[in-house]
Amino acid sequence: MLKLGLLADMRIAVIGAGVIGLSTAQSIYEQFHSTVRPLTIEIYADRFTPLTTSDGAAGFWQPYLYDKGNVQETKWNTETFDYLLSWLNSPDSAKMGIFLQSGYNVFTEPVSDPSFKEAVLGFRHLTQRELQLFPGYNFGWFNTALMVEGKSYLPWLMDWLQQRGVKFYNKKISSFKELSESGADVIINCTGVRSGELQPDPDLKPGRGQIIKVDAPWLKHWVITHNMKTGVYNSPYIIPGSRLVTVGGIFQLGNWSEQNNSADHKHIWEEACQLEPSLKHARIVEDWAGLRPVRSKVRLERETLQSGASTIEVIHNYGHGGFGLTIHRGCAQEAARLFGQIVEQKHKATKARL
Ligand SMILES: Cc1cc2nc3c(=O)[nH]c(=O)nc-3n(C[C@H](O)[C@H](O)[C@H](O)COP(=O)(O)OP(=O)(O)OC[C@H]3O[C@@H](n4cnc5c(N)ncnc54)[C@H](O)[C@@H]3O)c2cc1C
Ligand SMILES: *[C@@H]1O[C@H](CO)[C@@H](O)[C@H](O)[C@H]1NC(C)=O
Ligand SMILES: *[C@@H]1O[C@H](CO)[C@@H](O)[C@H](O)[C@H]1NC(C)=O
Ligand SMILES: *[C@@H]1O[C@H](CO)[C@@H](O)[C@H](O)[C@H]1NC(C)=O
Repeated sequence: MLKLGLLADMRIAVIGAGVIGLSTAQSIYEQFHSTVRPLTIEIYADRFTPLTTSDGAAGFWQPYLYDKGNVQETKWNTETFDYLLSWLNSPDSAKMGIFLQSGYNVFTEPVSDPSFKEAVLGFRHLTQRELQLFPGYNFGWFNTALMVEGKSYLPWLMDWLQQRGVKFYNKKISSFKELSESGADVIINCTGVRSGELQPDPDLKPGRGQIIKVDAPWLKHWVITHNMKTGVYNSPYIIPGSRLVTVGGIFQLGNWSEQNNSADHKHIWEEACQLEPSLKHARIVEDWAGLRPVRSKVRLERETLQSGASTIEVIHNYGHGGFGLTIHRGCAQEAARLFGQIVEQKHKATKARL
């Protein structure tokens, strides 16, 4: 364990107030507030709840089906599931937007079991009788997963941080220098999809999504269809939330538009009504379009940037695709561990000078 005392005074600037920025600030506070004093955490963002991508997302816990050997992400996803599960019996769970929910993943062909099989509760294959509920599909899984709804979880996180002295600034950051000149020792980059603005990352692309929120309180299970040819979330899905049901599936790689599109609306609606005919009686409440920060894998690493005579420590935590709420806590804990390395180095350097 570190014994740092007053030598370790640290000022941290987090860029981004989506689920990744807020939860990273929370993990850093939890892991270091008693050893690093004073620990100043500031959060800079040009969008706050309810206007971030994390607010628009359905809030369904499910990673992509296969981790393609990226076992670290599977570990972070599982850590997040276990963390959220541990909150379920707390009186705060309703305020946080966390609840259990079961449902179906359905396919038009048999596929191998997913990497999240052990993380969720009660994973099993569908029976023939269950498959009869989904004409056109001949294979599937059932399990209980979690919901963590951004529109509740983000305000809860902000309250939690505010109560512990974390300050929020509504500001667009146009250079890292700007923050280091204002005295930040460490910058945490949780900016989601907006590449090219601070430093280009050709591996990061928007995966445009559009969803329809409907009033259909009789729907109690989520249904995610999979089309192995059109790719993830590009086929119908229905996800009941605490108040409204989210109906999707659009995934357009490379499209930066956050506008609703009426052709996409029509396409989503027709396909979803085929999957769940009772939707025809649902009241449509609103459309929403957002950009998934798509990357070959999450970027979660340290970088030391040179800016004139001074160096800036940056921790990157972005590129969580269509599973940011699913993976957030595991990534936040990892980012906090990286922060710990910086603290330790700074401490050693200070001791060497004494
Ligand atoms: C239609 C749709 C449905 C989804 N459903 C789910 C789901 O059910 N489950 C799930 O796990 N995931 C889902 N996702 C994915 C999830 O929404 C994202 O992975 C997640 O929101 C990413 O979080 P983030 O904090 O990185 O980004 P964001 O929530 O986009 O936050 C980015 C923050 O960075 C700030 N920012 C960026 N650049 C700057 C700058 N230069 N200066 C200042 N501030 C800046 C923004 O203002 C904002 O505060 C869905 C996504 C879409 C589009
Ligand atoms: C910060 O994150 C964005 C992605 O949102 C990325 O494009 C950029 O390269 C990162 N900044 C730096 C300094 O690497
Ligand atoms: C991106 O999406 C918008 C809104 O749906 C649409 O109008 C536009 O044609 C799309 N652009 C591309 C390049 O697909
Ligand atoms: C999308 O449609 C909803 C209403 O369904 C509206 O509130 C929202 O402003 C629209 N978004 C855009 C970017 O036009």
